[in-house]
This record gives sequence, C-alpha cells and structure tokens, in this order.
Amino acid sequence: MSFAVSLPPHGAFAAWRDAARRAISHRLVPSEIDWSGQGGLFAALPLPEGMGSHEARVPAAFVKLAGSVIWHSDPARHGLLYEALWRLDHRRGNPLSQADPLGRRLNLMAKAVGRDIHKMHAFVRFRELPAPLPSQTRRRFAAWFEPEHNTLEPGSAFFVRRFSDMDWMIATPRLTARFDAGKLGFHPGGARPDLPEDASESLWATYFANIFNPARVKLDAMRSEMPKKYWKNLPETRLIPDMLKDAEARVARMQAATATAPRPGSAPVSTRYRAAMPVAPDLPETLAEAEAAAQQCRRCGLCEAATQTVWGSGAAAARLMLVGEQPGDREDLEGRPFVGPAGQLLRDVMAEAALDASTVWLTNAVKHFKFTPRGKQRLHQNPSSQEIQQCRWWLRLELAFIQPQLVLALGATAAFALTGNDAPLGPRRGTVETGLHGGPVLVTWHPAAILRQKDAQSRDEMKAALCRDIAIAQRQLSTAGPTA
Ligand code: URA
Repeated sequence: MSFAVSLPPHGAFAAWRDAARRAISHRLVPSEIDWSGQGGLFAALPLPEGMGSHEARVPAAFVKLAGSVIWHSDPARHGLLYEALWRLDHRRGNPLSQADPLGRRLNLMAKAVGRDIHKMHAFVRFRELPAPLPSQTRRRFAAWFEPEHNTLEPGSAFFVRRFSDMDWMIATPRLTARFDAGKLGFHPGGARPDLPEDASESLWATYFANIFNPARVKLDAMRSEMPKKYWKNLPETRLIPDMLKDAEARVARMQAATATAPRPGSAPVSTRYRAAMPVAPDLPETLAEAEAAAQQCRRCGLCEAATQTVWGSGAAAARLMLVGEQPGDREDLEGRPFVGPAGQLLRDVMAEAALDASTVWLTNAVKHFKFTPRGKQRLHQNPSSQEIQQCRWWLRLELAFIQPQLVLALGATAAFALTGNDAPLGPRRGTVETGLHGGPVLVTWHPAAILRQKDAQSRDEMKAALCRDIAIAQRQLSTAGPTA
C-alpha cells in the first residue's frame, strides 16, 4: 500500500469523492490506497497532487449509493466504494448489482444508513433550554442521540427544515450539529452525559445548556442546580449558572403570564406543562398564526416524543371538515394528516363517493402522534381523555377559522373531541349530533378501524357505510347551498 488518505470527521462525502476522483485519475488500484489515513507497514505517501490524465465516468446510481454508504460506520466503507468505482471504470462486472458480492454488501450498508436516519428523525427527543439572555427571542432546544452510523450529518437537513425558526443542537458521540441563528455547523461529539435513564427535564436542560454555549462559569449555582454526582463527566469550565438563574426568572414570568391571561375555552393545564406553555396572551388572528402557535404546543406530554405537531391541511374555506384521531407514524414524520395507509383508504372512499379531497379540511382531534417504541417500530397508542381535552383547544381554533358547515367525525376519539360524548360509536354511526362548537357533526367509522377488521365482509360493510356517510355529508352540503 503506498498512499494514505485521511478524511475529515464531517464533509466526508465531498472529501472522499474528491480523493477518489484524484486517485482514479492517476490510475491507482484499490490495493494501493489506505483509506484509514494511518498508512500501512511502509511509509505511506499522500495522494499525488492535482488530477491525472484519466477521467472515470460512473453511473448516477453509483454516486447515489456512495452518498449513502459513506455514512456507514464500517471502517472499510471508503475502500469498498473505491473498489466499486475502480471496477466500474474497468468494466469488471457490475459492482452495483445485488447479484455481485460487493454490490450486495454496499446495498445492505446503504439500507442500514437509511434506517438509521429514519430512526434519528423519529426518536430524537429535544428538550427546551432556557434563553441565555432575556432579549433572546429564538427558542433553543437540544437533544442527545446515539446513532449506529455516522448519520447526524445527512440526517440534519430534516431538522433544519422542521425547526428553521429555532436554535437547536443534537449531540452525538462522534459529532455535534448546531443550528444557530439559521446556520448549521458541525463540531466534535462528546461523551454521553452521566445522567440516569430517568433523569429529570431540568438535569438534561442543565447538561445541554452547558454544552450549547460554553460561556460563563460560576460553580456554586451549578452545584445547587445539579447534584454533584451527575457532573463528573461535565467539564466544569463549561458551566453556565447565570443561564440557570435566567431560567428561573423566565419560568416565573411565564407562570405569571399564564395565570393572569387564561385563554378563552382552554381546559386546565397540568402544572408540569404550564411553565412551558407559550405565553402570548393573545389569540392567534389567522389560521397560519394558529398553526405556528400549535407547532410550539406543550399542553400535554405528547409533544415530548412526537416529531412535530401535525396541523390540519386542505382548503381553508372548506364547507366540510373531516376530523380523525391523531397522526400516525407517517403523518408524524411528514407533518401532514392522513398520508399513511388509513389516509389512503380515506382518499379512496372519498373518490368513490365523488368527493373532491382538495375541497375539504382534513385534521385530527389530537395533533401529536402517541406511540410506544417496539424495536424499530413505533406502535400507535390511543390518546387519553385528558390528552384529547387538552388538544380540543386547537380543534376549536381550527373550527373557528375554517367555519365548516358540517364536520365528519371519523371514529370515537374525534366524536368525543367534537361533541363531548364518549358513548360507543356503533349505535351513533350515521347520525348527526351537535358539536361543542354549536354546529352539526356526522359520526362515522375511522378508516383505520376498517383496516383493522380481520374478515373481509366486516371490512367491506364498514367501508360501504363510510362511503354512504360521506355521500350523506355531500348531500347535506349541496342542500345547504354555497357559503357566504
Ligand atoms: N389516523 C388518523 O386519525 N389521522 C391521521 O392523520 C392518520 C391516521
């Protein structure tokens, strides 16, 4: 082995691609390059300067595969990719095919990276940090995560899109991503904080506050905030007690604000979440403002594990509003209601009933996904009656802005959220009740309940009933005439 390449801890794909292009342009064979950057038994040289005379042409599929495999944790990844590049260049079989041992290995690596990124998007759990200065208006969040592969860098774009109006940090053992004032940067990773599994929010917040902004040091305040046994892994030079003092003042301000400015129609909020609620005493004035406010919602604990608030979507002037239970796995990741399997069934039935889906407003009674992790999956859990009641605040706002002539309650959760009546759904299906907002609510099956039916006959019957109810809703709207 005569050449050694050392790649940076981030920006690895561009760096590998440049090095590989240079190496192939000098016609270096795979066995001549040590990608670990350490050199072999013999003194290793850096790659030759500048480009050589040969230019390799590779299919776009290789660039795509390499752009994924590069984030795998296998130390052999750079060499394997170069071997594939070299074979493509020399037309030695098809190293991208599943039938080729190298192709199979690379494809498996790409799949593992994809799964790892998906897990990160689903399971990163942000904690809000106190603002370092009272004048700071951007909210700050931080999370600790341990990906299996080097996926923080490719996975960060998702968080930039989702949380572009906040400052946030995701710390991992290898790398830390920080999004500060609209700019994403990468910094070295760190050791896992020495906190117990069930560490309280304030311990986590203190830990993150320390590494978010290594600015000021005052140990006494730190000692009083976090028991000493928890900070043996924390470099004391990074403690920021002034931030902690600010946090207290901020929480007190928030508590005062929420105590003196109760929102009309809001149910009592548990003490634990009251301090974290948005303090704006005014009601949102537009649907867009309501959605932006809902994105910050902390009225119940569901916001802690869900990826995001899933607000309604569709026609803001809709005469018909369809309310489901809560977002599922897909909806939670995509941020839109009814984009998963139940949504597909609902859209099929709407089409069958000749209802144009683009004319309705689709939403859910509960705006965060409630789930329990099971292996790689997140299993749906029914929202509790308290969670439904907390979220009714947002449903009422949606009703107030959309002002539908008729609401279709899909399933028992939606029916309870809309009417306050939690009687079993079966006898109520197909009937119209009066909603808490004063308007008519037609009660029907939830599409997910149809999908859960084991026998085809029940499935078909329930689907036909949902289709009939949607047709009834259509008829009611047409007899009511156009809205003013
Ligand atoms: N089920 C629901 O109730 N809502 C969705 O958005 C998706 C599935």
